[in-house]
Parts: sequence; structure tokens; C-alpha cells
Amino acid sequence: MSEIEIRPARREEFDAVGEVTVEAYRVEGFFEVDAAYEAKLRDAAGRAEHAELLVAVDPGGEVLGSVAIVQPGSELAEISRPGELEFRMLAVAEAARGRGIGESLTQAVLDRGRELGVDRVVMSSLDVMRKAHRLYERMGFRRLPERDWHPHPGVNLIAYEYGF
Ligand SMILES: CC(C)(COP(=O)(O)OP(=O)(O)OC[C@H]1O[C@@H](n2cnc3c(N)ncnc32)[C@H](O)[C@@H]1OP(=O)(O)O)[C@@H](O)C(=O)NCCC(=O)NCCS
Repeated sequence: MSEIEIRPARREEFDAVGEVTVEAYRVEGFFEVDAAYEAKLRDAAGRAEHAELLVAVDPGGEVLGSVAIVQPGSELAEISRPGELEFRMLAVAEAARGRGIGESLTQAVLDRGRELGVDRVVMSSLDVMRKAHRLYERMGFRRLPERDWHPHPGVNLIAYEYGF
């Protein structure tokens, strides 16, 4: 893991970020749940405009993963409130999984939250994203059921919080 760098995405990496994110969701079959989501996942340039877009890159510069850090009230915010930070679209390329990259990206979000002095970091994810839920729970996130929501009928997003 030590050779993987986590840092803000560069403009020339936006296409790769979009591709890695779409593929990460596709291999899990998540588009069967929400087909309309693909275009949003691919739009890394849009994410960089409205969020802090982080990447995980290997020493050769290949993009292996990404996450978007979102301020409450901003274009990409879903469940965050003032005094909180939110993250979205965490993804790691299938071939690079199980090496702690997802945890490092999530840790970078928590580090940013601490730096900004927010009370908590929140996020919501599809109920079927079990690998992600294991990761969040292992890192100390707790379920926040009062913020669970449904963008469309049958699409269940469950909320988590990490309190500082
Ligand atoms: C969720 C996701 C980001 C996790 O990425 P990842 O890089 O594989 O995450 P990690 O490597 O930190 O953790 C995954 C597993 O590897 C294990 N692991 C981490 N580092 C390890 C190491 N050095 N050696 C062995 N195992 C390790 C973890 O314990 C974890 O095990 P578990 O799943 O059995 O609990 C990835 O599966 C993904 O992109 N999923 C699809 C998109 C998604 O669901 N995103 C969430 C949206 S909110």
C-alpha cells in the first residue's frame, strides 16, 4: 500500500477516474439497481468542479481509485447538513482491491474532515454495497438510519456517520 499515492485528481486524469468508477460499480452489478447513475459516475470533471476529487495512483501514474469530498449545500450534497462533510462515489478498480486502497481513500476523507473541524463525516450508499459497508464499519462509521433515503422507488440508500 505504501507505494500508492492519494492526492487531488489532475485534469488529465478525469477520464480515467470516470472509467475506474463506472467499472467498479459495473462489476458489482450496481447498474441493475440504478441504470441512470452511469453518466454521473463517468462525469469526473463535473465532480472536480463541485467537490474535492481525490485519486489513488500507483507509481506509474495509473488511477486505481477515487472518491469525491462534498460540502453540505453544494451541487453534489445528498444527506449532509451544516457542520458535516460528505463523500460520494468511492471506487477502487477491481484488480486493485483488497490492498487497503479503499480504506486509504476513506481515511483521506476523514483527515480532511478533521482538518476542516467538522462534527462528522456522513455518506449514503446502496443497501447492496456490502463490501463498502464492511469497510465503513471496520473504520468506525455507524449507521445513521434517520437519513436513509430513496432516490427512486426500489433504490435504497442507507446512511452512515463518522463522528469526531
Ligand atoms: C468498497 C471498495 C471501494 C473497497 O475497496 P478496496 O480497496 O478493496 O478496500 P480495502 O482494500 O480497504 O478493503 C477491502 C478488503 O481488503 C482487506 N484488506 C485491506 N488491506 C489488505 C491487505 N493489505 N491484505 C489483505 N487484505 C487487505 C480488508 O480487510 C477488506 O476485507 P473485507 O472486505 O473482507 O472486510 C471497492 O470494493 C469498490 O470499489 N466497490 C464498488 C463501489 C462501491 O461499492 N463503492 C461504495 C460507494 S459509497
